[in-house]
Amino acid sequence: MAHASELIESDINAYLKSHEHKSLLRFITCGSVDDGKSTLIGRLLYESKMIFEDQLSALEADSKKVGTRGGELDFALLVDGLAAEREQGITIDVAYRFFSTDKRKFIVADTPGHEQYTRNMVTGASTADLAVILIDARRGVLTQTRRHSYIVSLLGIRRIVLAINKMDLVEYGQPRFAEIERDYRAFAALIGLTDITAIPLSAVYGDNIIERGANMPWYVGPTLMGHLEAVPVEDQSQTLPFRMPVQWVNRPNLDFRGFAGRIASGRVQAGDRLKVVPSGRESRVARIVTADGDLPYAIAGQCVTITLTDEVDVSRGDVLVDMQALPQTADQFEATLIGLGETAIFPGRSYLMKLATKVVTATVNPLKYRVDVNTLERLAAERLELNDIGVVELELDQPIAFEEYAKSRELGGFILIDRITNNTVAAGMLHFALRRSQNVHWQFLDVNKASRAQLNRQRPCVVWLTGYSGAGKSTIANLIEKRLFSLGRRTYLLDGDNVRHGLNRDLGFTEQDRVENIRRVAEVARLMVDAGLIVLVSFISPFRAERRAARALLGEGEFFEVFVDTSLAAAEARDVKGLYKKARAGALKNFTGIDSPYEPPEAPEIHIDTARLSAVEGADLIIETLARQGVLRVD
Ligand code: ADX
Repeated sequence: MAHASELIESDINAYLKSHEHKSLLRFITCGSVDDGKSTLIGRLLYESKMIFEDQLSALEADSKKVGTRGGELDFALLVDGLAAEREQGITIDVAYRFFSTDKRKFIVADTPGHEQYTRNMVTGASTADLAVILIDARRGVLTQTRRHSYIVSLLGIRRIVLAINKMDLVEYGQPRFAEIERDYRAFAALIGLTDITAIPLSAVYGDNIIERGANMPWYVGPTLMGHLEAVPVEDQSQTLPFRMPVQWVNRPNLDFRGFAGRIASGRVQAGDRLKVVPSGRESRVARIVTADGDLPYAIAGQCVTITLTDEVDVSRGDVLVDMQALPQTADQFEATLIGLGETAIFPGRSYLMKLATKVVTATVNPLKYRVDVNTLERLAAERLELNDIGVVELELDQPIAFEEYAKSRELGGFILIDRITNNTVAAGMLHFALRRSQNVHWQFLDVNKASRAQLNRQRPCVVWLTGYSGAGKSTIANLIEKRLFSLGRRTYLLDGDNVRHGLNRDLGFTEQDRVENIRRVAEVARLMVDAGLIVLVSFISPFRAERRAARALLGEGEFFEVFVDTSLAAAEARDVKGLYKKARAGALKNFTGIDSPYEPPEAPEIHIDTARLSAVEGADLIIETLARQGVLRVD
C-alpha cells in the first residue's frame, strides 16, 4: 500500500498503467447512514488495501494527461462530468471513491446525506453498472429501499446486490435473512429487477465483507468483495453504432476546424462516412485528433476531436453518427421524470432540456401519471414534486437526435432545468417518440399576419399587463382600449375575470391552474395577433415562467410587458372587490400576495408605478410607447 501511494504521488501515469489491464466496476451504494453505509464503504476501502480514498477530483490536474491515453479515460471524464453538471446548477454531493484489488478496479459513488438524497443518488446511479442496496436486517424492506430500487431500475442498472446488514443484531439468523430476501425479490420483480444477489453482512464486524467469518455458516454464497470482483461487467457501448454528441467546435485558426466530444457509443476511424444530425449533412472523417497525436481509430468513452473532409456546418449539441445506422429524431416524446427540484414541475410550463450536449426548450404536456413507489400504482397528478416519479409527454421546440434510454444512457437520459432559477428540476429518461406531431402539419395560408396587419394599418402586438389583483390593470387596459378604438385601431381586451367566465371556467387559483390559465390566454393572444389585432391582456399572471413563455410565443417587438406596480398594502387598502379581506380572513385560499406568490417582472418594457402615476397617466405612457415603437401605424 505504501509503495502504491508513493507511485501515485511520484508517477500517476505509471500507476494507472499498472492497472490498465484490469476491468473496472462502477457501483453505487444506496441506503442511509443508519443502515451502516459509511461503515460498509469504509471497510471495503480499508480491507481491500485501498490505494487512496480521496475524491477523484484530486486527480484533476493529472487527468488531462491521462484523458487521452488509450481507453483509460474514467478519471478525466468523471471530473469533467461533474464540472459540466455543476454548470447546470446541480449541487452534487457525490463522492466518487476509487479502490482496487488484484482482480479489479472499482469506482464507488457514495451519496451521503439525507438532504437532496434522491438528486445525489440519480447522479451517482447514472454511470453505475451495479447497485448495492443496503438493508438494516432489523428493519427489512422499507419505502426508501423500494424508492432507491425503483430509481436504480429506471436508470438502467440491472445488477443488484442486496446487502442485508447488521446481521449481528438479529443473531445472525438465517430465517430473517430469507424473509427479507423474499420480500425484496417480490417487489424487485415488479420493476424488472431479477439479477439480485443477497448477502448477509455485518459491516461492523466484517462478516461476509471480505472474509466469511464464523458467524453465518448457513450462508454459502459469495462475500461482498468476492461478488464485486467476479460479477461480469459488460460495456455494450462499444458494440452499438457510432455516436458522438459535439461538445464544442474547436477552431483555433482558419486552417483547423474540429469537433470535440466524448464518443457515446461505437467506433470511428479515419475515412468513415458520417452524418451530422439533425441537419442531415454528410461528410467523411479526415482526422481523429488528440493531445498526444492523431489516432487511427477511437472507441466509446474516448474524448477526441474529429475533423471532416468537407466544410459542413456543425455546432455544439449536434451529433455525429454512423451513416449506416442513423438515430431517430423527434420533437415529442414519452418520458419518465424524477423530480429533483424544490419547485414542482407543472404541465404546460416550459423548461430547458439538456440531453447529451444539446439544450432545447421542452414543455411537459400532459403529465400522464405519478407512480406510488410502494405499490407501483399509477396515480393521477397535477404536478411532480421533489422525489416524485412520473410519466409525462414532452414537446420540444425543435427536433433532436435521441435513443431510447434503455438503449443509450447518453442519448436517452436528460435533465430539465428551470429557465429562471437555472436549477435542475428533474432527471429524465426518454421512452419513445410520439408520432402524432409528424402527422399534424402547418397549413400554409395565403392571407397571413402581414397582410392583415397591412389591411388594419397597424402592427399587431400584445400589451401584457401584470400586477396584483386591484393594482389597476383592468382600469388601465380599458382606458388604452378606448383610446386606441377612438384612433381607429383594431383591438381586443382579454381580461382575467372575463376569460375565467368562459374559456377558463374550469380553472381555479392553484399554481397549476394559474399556469394553465396563462398558457391558454397566451395562445389566444397569439392567435389574435395573427388575426392582426392589438391585444390587451390583463391578468395577474404572477409567475415569470409563464410570462416568459407567453413572450416566447410572439415575435420580436410583438410583446410589451407592462408591470402595473402597486404595493401589496395599497392594493389591499383599496380592495375594490373585498377579496383581500376574505383572503385575510381565511375564506379565500391561494390569494396572490397573501398565500400565493407574485414574481414581479425583472425587465418589463413599461413600468407603471401607481404611487406616482394615475391610471390615465399610465395609459398615456403605454400609448406613447406603442406609438414610438411604430405599432399604431403601418404605411
Ligand atoms: S392569474 O393569477 O391566473 O393570472 P387572473 O388574472 O386570471 O389570475 O384572475 C385574477 C382575478 O380573479 C382577480 O382579479 C380576482 O378578482 C379573482 N380572484 C379570485 N380568487 C383569486 C385568488 N385566489 N387569487 C387571485 N385572484 C383571485
